[in-house]
Amino acid sequence: MRSVVIDSRGRFQLERRPEPVAGPGAVVVRVRAAGLNAADLQQARGDYPAPPGWPDDVPGLEIAGEVEQVGSGVAGVVPGDRVMALVGGGGHAERIAVPADLLLPVPDGLPWEEAAGFPEAFSTAWDALVTQAGVRAGDRVLVSGAAGGVGTAMVQVAAVSGAHTVASVRRPELHDRVRALAPDGEVDVVTPDQEAAHAPFDVIVELVGGEDCLRRIALLRSRGKVLVVGVQAGTTAPLRMFDLMLARAHLIGTTIRGRSPAEKALLAAGVRTSVVPLLARGRLRVPVDAAFPLDRFADAYARLAGPGKFGKVILLP
Ligand SMILES: NC(=O)c1ccc[n+]([C@@H]2O[C@H](COP(=O)([O-])OP(=O)(O)OC[C@H]3O[C@@H](n4cnc5c(N)ncnc54)[C@H](OP(=O)(O)O)[C@@H]3O)[C@@H](O)[C@H]2O)c1
Repeated sequence: MRSVVIDSRGRFQLERRPEPVAGPGAVVVRVRAAGLNAADLQQARGDYPAPPGWPDDVPGLEIAGEVEQVGSGVAGVVPGDRVMALVGGGGHAERIAVPADLLLPVPDGLPWEEAAGFPEAFSTAWDALVTQAGVRAGDRVLVSGAAGGVGTAMVQVAAVSGAHTVASVRRPELHDRVRALAPDGEVDVVTPDQEAAHAPFDVIVELVGGEDCLRRIALLRSRGKVLVVGVQAGTTAPLRMFDLMLARAHLIGTTIRGRSPAEKALLAAGVRTSVVPLLARGRLRVPVDAAFPLDRFADAYARLAGPGKFGKVILLP
């Protein structure tokens, strides 16, 4: 099969690789579409290795496609099922072996490219906002970097949880599209310099990082939470500990990739039960910025790294 691989110099190449085989407890999926993530670029730079059990030189953390082979011990899955999954790597290829307990059903009628953009962003958003921060109806949530793949998911998950969201987007030309993610008016879209005027917040979702990001602790309501999810703009930031104390604040860091297989299966079960039905009913949607055929993988990664995206970048193997 054809697969994107990361060569010894950290460059993406298209190569032929052996077809995967469905081992016990796993299935092989014919990949129809696969999402791109910043983690793919980090992996190519050598900063973010794949967890054990996944290909260490094939990028791709989320896929959607049809089940082709079913391994021993797998119940309730048959060839032809439309599935999507958050995987540990190896998704930017024509086929991938996936543990069956990570599979999510693709709702009827959902296009492949939208399904492929769902698992990473919405698992991250649900896990961070609902499971870890316990966001509730009436809370005020600030999301930085809100026009990107994860940001557009965070805004929607906060809205369906009944929270009022302030989405921080530095490009005014994207504001209307971000506002339209929550048509009932639960979202205000602002530029970063306008965030403070909308404080206080119960939850601040940090998707950008950088030197100034922890100053936002001063914008928290008492016992508020800062969720550190993405730090592309800079991985170190001074923390004013007195602000943390005064707000009796919680500072929460999170990743999914390094979790144990059991933790990932538990997360998939929660997303299957609580989030996929909202996608199926149209309460959540996956904005696709651009989709590229597999042989234009270089254009896809360039778009991922480029400015001004709204939502996800997708490969179509
Ligand atoms: N912890 C986890 O479990 C987890 C899971 C998934 C993703 N992540 C991380 O979360 C982050 C966001 O992921 P994503 O998929 O949403 O990325 P993305 O689609 O590239 O979106 C990033 C957004 O941040 C904005 N941005 C970048 N630098 C900025 C700055 N200095 N000031 C204001 N806005 C800025 C970008 O705006 P422009 O277009 O204007 O540049 C873009 O809208 C990444 O760092 C990713 O690695 C973490």
